Amino acid sequence: MQQERTDRINTVSERFYLTTPIFYVNDVPHIGHAYTEVAADVLARWHRGRGDDTWLLTGTDEHGQKILRTATANDTTPQAWADKLVAEAWKPLLETLNISNDDFIRTTEERHEVNVQRFLQHLYDTGWITTGDYEGHYCVGCEEFKQPSDLVPGTGGYEGELVCAIHSRPTELVKERNYFFKLSAFQQPLLDLYEQNPTFIQPESARNEVISFVKGGLDDLSISRTTFDWGVKVPWDESHVVYVWFDALLNYITAIGYGQDDEALAARWPGVHLVGKDILRFHAVIWPAMLMAAGLEPPRGIFGHGWLLVGGEKMSKSKLTGIAPTQITDTFGTDAFRYYFMRAIAFGSDGSFSWEDIAARYEADLANGFGNLASRVTAMIGRYFDGALPAAGERTDADEAIVATARAAFEAADAAIERFAIHEAIASIWTLVDDLNGYITDQEPWALAKDESLRGRLGTVLNTAAEGLRVLAQLLHPVMPVATDTLWTTLGADAALGTLSARSLQDAGVWGLLPEGTQVSALTPLFPRVDPDAVPTTPGATQA
Ligand code: MSP
Repeated sequence: MQQERTDRINTVSERFYLTTPIFYVNDVPHIGHAYTEVAADVLARWHRGRGDDTWLLTGTDEHGQKILRTATANDTTPQAWADKLVAEAWKPLLETLNISNDDFIRTTEERHEVNVQRFLQHLYDTGWITTGDYEGHYCVGCEEFKQPSDLVPGTGGYEGELVCAIHSRPTELVKERNYFFKLSAFQQPLLDLYEQNPTFIQPESARNEVISFVKGGLDDLSISRTTFDWGVKVPWDESHVVYVWFDALLNYITAIGYGQDDEALAARWPGVHLVGKDILRFHAVIWPAMLMAAGLEPPRGIFGHGWLLVGGEKMSKSKLTGIAPTQITDTFGTDAFRYYFMRAIAFGSDGSFSWEDIAARYEADLANGFGNLASRVTAMIGRYFDGALPAAGERTDADEAIVATARAAFEAADAAIERFAIHEAIASIWTLVDDLNGYITDQEPWALAKDESLRGRLGTVLNTAAEGLRVLAQLLHPVMPVATDTLWTTLGADAALGTLSARSLQDAGVWGLLPEGTQVSALTPLFPRVDPDAVPTTPGATQA
């Protein structure tokens, strides 16, 4: 028996603190929100798998006019509204999607509010805050003052008015005496930061957009409001509450110890922020400037992903185009949801969801491509070897090619994840699914099984295929944690190698980890057939 082991692939382990945006609790989540969560989770699970000291933070953004108005319209207090939405919608979303976050922060928690005040007081004491009169067009949907150039002509009921380009609703004219953060002083420091660190803002299109915005000049930022009180009180003047974005951005450091535990903060910060492109400027302009003013390091990087579109526009609840994630997971399961959105849309670009497309990918990639491969291989080990994994003999070129594909798949996927190209990472891993399917077709184990003199070769083929599945379970675990756990157990790998999530992704470069005789059991289909009548049709969609 030849059990040649290739070297473990070397990757340098790093510290990886990843955040999602914190979500407004004015409404329940739709698949656009779920998209950000899933992407963050895939990245975090991959980094954990490669041995990085990983921390994934998510949470909710609970202050500001948007939440206050929704609560009032529902005859309740903003705190009671936020408590309800967090308990009934936002935390359950993480269960639905199988998110492995390490912490969940709410901006109404004391650990956050107290330290927002501490941060602001520090900026006030060091001269970064001024007072001034402000008049501007405020979009409550965005919780942002808009420049005239951000507004577009309205349609329908808003014909003849200017409206917010994202929410398609008119803005409100606000005139107040506010506190201001001296953002204008950070134009050059920010441009220097972008220059010195070319991957600070990704993708390239997002970086270019931010650079040209900052080159156009920065105004000081109004950071307090007096006309309502649902927010963190300005510590030296309690007639003001802190602007909701200034409050919200600070979650990324209050959650890891800012103001309370310098050592904990230093152990995690700087972090990487994953955000939708609509909120890129807050993260790439205002946030690093706030940190620089406070003498803290800017983030390590910001990645702006694209939008899920409906009819060419950003899917949103306010436009009644939101689809609840459970509508999809109830039909296809959580793993398929995660796979579909990560594979079908180039991460960083916009993409359209259609029921037809997910149904087609489910059948072709998951049920027929990956699921069927796993069923066939495990069934043949059951049929021809009573479920005991046969030993591998001398390897032929065809066997060697599978070993090489597995190794190359890991290396390419790891490099793609480093660039946030999640779709490319999955495509690289899929080369192993495709090559293994081709290998089974070419090697014809069912034909080998008919000739007793070829039993050694039959063992080698099924051993190679089982090892390939073992590697696939590991590499696809960050994307599809449930199906890969099932496969891992079926392969007998949990008994032989321990739990899947505890294994290192570098195992992809080690061949022959499953010991001879490992008990392989019968596989329940990883991706059962979905009744086509249970799949809704997408208005206006064409069959993919
Ligand atoms: N509360 C702010 C973020 C504060 S972070 C300090 C916020 N919340 S949000 O609930 O409106 O949006 C949260 C995230 O969901 C954003 O990254 C946004 O881009 C994303 N998405 C909302 N709709 C989306 C799509 N239709 N498609 C993809 N992502 C979208 O903004």
